Amino acid sequence: MLFQAIRKSLEFPNASQVVQQNYIDFLAKTYRLSHNGDHGLEHWMRVLINGRLLAEGNGADIEVVEHFALVHDVMRENESLDLYHGPRAADFVKMIAGTWIRLNEHQLHQLMNACRYHSVGRLDRDVTIQTCWDADRLDLGRVGITPKSLYLGSSLAKDHNFIEMANMRSKKRFVKEGFSDD
Ligand SMILES: [Fe+2]
Ligand SMILES: [Fe+2]
Repeated sequence: MLFQAIRKSLEFPNASQVVQQNYIDFLAKTYRLSHNGDHGLEHWMRVLINGRLLAEGNGADIEVVEHFALVHDVMRENESLDLYHGPRAADFVKMIAGTWIRLNEHQLHQLMNACRYHSVGRLDRDVTIQTCWDADRLDLGRVGITPKSLYLGSSLAKDHNFIEMANMRSKKRFVKEGFSDD
């Protein structure tokens, strides 16, 4: 089931080499909450899809966007208010930089900032950071919230049809109930 989700995400022609089975396995094991919950694997995969679609035309750095999709919520400690999961994700990125994450200094800086501030409702002028946040916010439909264009940065992300498609995607479930990576 997990593999199917990854294969689906790899259908995108501009896919980078970030998404690899052993990296996903490592992150899936690191995550302490249920992958059937609101912030687990299926959310990561939908953020990945949103990010790839946005980055295709806006010049965002696809490697940073893909890493963001996979790690931004990995340090969550609960499914509700966890104010510091962004900063913890940024620290986690720093910890695994050079091993699982191989980015240059600028990319690493972008990724850490995107993770650190992703849940505080900001907009950023850096197209890569903004694309990370747009990709995440466009998946709010999974918790019954329709993404508001006020909190989206790129013109494609604000497009009514794009929001509609992302919203429809956000309701889909593809991780088997009770999924565990053990
Ligand atoms: Fe988050
Ligand atoms: Fe998220």
